[in-house]
Amino acid sequence: VARKFDAAAAARTARMYATPEIAEQRARTRAALGARPGERGLDIGCGPGFLSCELAREVSPRGGVVAIDESADMLVASAERARQEAVADRVRLVRGDATRLPFRPASFDFVVAVQVYLYVPDVVGALAEAARVLRPGGRLVVVDTDWESCVWLTADPDRHRQVMEARLADFAHAHLPPQLPALLRRAGLVPGPASAIPVLSLSYDPASFSGGIIEPTKESAVRQGVPRADAEAWAADLRGRTGDGDYFFSVNRFLFVATRPG
Ligand SMILES: C[S@@+](CC[C@H](N)C(=O)[O-])C[C@H]1O[C@@H](n2cnc3c(N)ncnc32)[C@H](O)[C@@H]1O
Repeated sequence: VARKFDAAAAARTARMYATPEIAEQRARTRAALGARPGERGLDIGCGPGFLSCELAREVSPRGGVVAIDESADMLVASAERARQEAVADRVRLVRGDATRLPFRPASFDFVVAVQVYLYVPDVVGALAEAARVLRPGGRLVVVDTDWESCVWLTADPDRHRQVMEARLADFAHAHLPPQLPALLRRAGLVPGPASAIPVLSLSYDPASFSGGIIEPTKESAVRQGVPRADAEAWAADLRGRTGDGDYFFSVNRFLFVATRPG
């Protein structure tokens, strides 16, 4: 059974995405996109809505952002964020699937899809849909993780490998970034600049990105067949690494800009 983005996942994701390292990732995503006042944008798999709200401010006063997600609980979190950040009139929330976007061709100046396509089995179909709804000359920004790049200090490397392999089996695509330049071309887009965005933690903090993924990683590994006692011991080891120099986590996100020829 694949991971579901229910209310608990929405709350956990919102906490992790409020951290400085993920805020920095959004700043780099917005810089690569270069949204301008008056533009219309689409945020695919908007999750708790941080990026949608930030982009809504950038396209104000006349532009707007449509935020789409298949999870009703994520849309509730996005609606609440848009209200708190006073951009509710600039963010339209839509429930829907990345592979069947309910929009006319050429409806948007830009499309963003951050940490979404790794969950979408038909990523070729999803990219074709993103390209279809972009106007000629419009930009797509995709940010995704390659979990091959994950370095995490643990007491038992064999147990760690077992947990991570099980966790990664729960993603539709745990190693998408190296394929993205070719997939973007296949969708009829012209790939532009790309960059790596490292997420690095040198101390254990339950409120950090890596601190936040311990629990879902453990549960995912158990779902995929790792004995619960092993998964619990893996998590306890990481959570116990509170001394100086005891903790190290790093993973790379990869950002791609592509343009629809016009
Ligand atoms: C890890 S969150 C990323 C949220 C957001 N893009 C961000 O970076 O802050 C992944 C989101 O993708 C959504 N999602 C997964 N598969 C989807 C699909 N096929 N169509 C639309 N949304 C999807 C999930 O519901 C979840 O909200």
